[in-house]
Formats: sequence, C-alpha cells, structure tokens
Amino acid sequence: VQEPDLRGRHVVVSAGGTREPLDPVRFLGNRSSGKQGYALARTAAARGARVTLIAANTQLPDPAGVDVVQVGTAVQLREAVLKAAADADAVVMAAAVADFRPSAYATGKIKKKDGKEPEPIVLVRNPDILAEVSAERARAGQVIVGFAAETDDVLANGRAKLTRKGCDLLVVNEVGERKTFGSEENEAVVLGADGSEKPVPHGPKEALADIVWDLVVDRLD
Ligand code: C5P
Repeated sequence: VQEPDLRGRHVVVSAGGTREPLDPVRFLGNRSSGKQGYALARTAAARGARVTLIAANTQLPDPAGVDVVQVGTAVQLREAVLKAAADADAVVMAAAVADFRPSAYATGKIKKKDGKEPEPIVLVRNPDILAEVSAERARAGQVIVGFAAETDDVLANGRAKLTRKGCDLLVVNEVGERKTFGSEENEAVVLGADGSEKPVPHGPKEALADIVWDLVVDRLD
C-alpha cells in the first residue's frame, strides 16, 4: 500500500502528443500514446495529490479523481501547462511536444493540382514548454521533471538535455524497435540536476511513475 506522501500537493502532468494542423483535415503528429503520462497521473492521485492531467490527443479513459484538460497543439499545451503550473508543487512533462509547426494554416483543404509539384511545407519552431516552466518556477521549490527519448549516447545526451532545459529531473528512455511507444512497459534512467543517476529496470509504466514520484517527494520541501 502506497503512503499518501503527495497529500496536500498539486501536481501537473502532461501526456500524449501534440498535433499541428496543416489544414482542416491534416496535421503533423507523433506516436505518443499518453500511457506513461496517465500512469504518472494515476499514481500521483493514489499517493494523495491533486492532479491536473493535460492530455494531448490521447485515446485513454480519464483516470478517476484527476482533473483532465484536453489540448491539441503545442501552443494550447503551453497555455494549459502555464496556467496549471501557477500553484503547482511539481510539473512533469511527459507529453511529446512537436518541436515545429507549419508556418501557415490553410483554412480550406490543400488540393493537388494537375501537373504541379506540391508546395513545400514551411515549419516554424514551437515554444519549449519544459524550458519555460523551468526558467519561471511559478512557485518557490517547485520540482520540474522532463522526459527524453534517445536512441544513442543515452546518458550523455540526457545529461546535456537536463542542463539545457534547466529541469530538476530528466527521465531518459532508450527508444528503439520494441521499446516505449504505445507499449505497457518502459525502461529508463532518471537523471538529477544534483548529478544523481537512477536506473529503472524494464517494467510497467506504473513502476517507473512511482519511482519518479519518489524522487519528486525527496526534492519537495
Ligand atoms: O527537446 P526534446 O523534445 O527532446 O525534450 C523532451 C522534453 O521536453 C519532454 O519533457 C517534453 O515534454 C518537453 N518539451 C517541451 N516543449 C517542446 C519540446 C519538448 O516542453 N517544445
């Protein structure tokens, strides 16, 4: 039985993947299922937290006792996260946020034209939400957690990303063939800004979620 060690705390979790529309019927997206973020929301609620789950394009049932905010794009995700983070003790960014979005949105469906090559899709950068909440620290002592999926030099790339983003903890997943996307299981290393390194063996996303909350609880005042 889990201790209610997050009782009286407000935690914000983002989950899923953003979709960046090109026209009314098309978008640029990614394969994130949202399962890891939902596992984080469920386990935080089980540990007594008030949980705001910001869900981007997920197909999962709302976890019991969790406030769910649905969003579509990275810009909408940013607004929802910043709003919820204002009084949060911890923010965990498990969502896969599109780094870029199409520079223009076509209000009518983009059509193919006979004998013509397609127009190129021009992209612009999306805001980096994790870097922004880390720089702002809306509340003193707020603990901020990011996720990173890496295919090689996992630890070195993870360490560099942790520093670049300015978060307290970074959960680094090695992605590859059978790993992570849409699966029920995960394997990771959780890096701390204090230099710590916690390997998490292959197992259920719930188990990784509980380890993340253990590390967050250690860092809350
Ligand atoms: O830079 P990269 O996408 O690898 O970083 C992943 C981490 O940063 C995740 O925690 C993700 O939620 C967050 N992120 C973000 N805003 C972006 C891109 C990523 O908050 N525009």
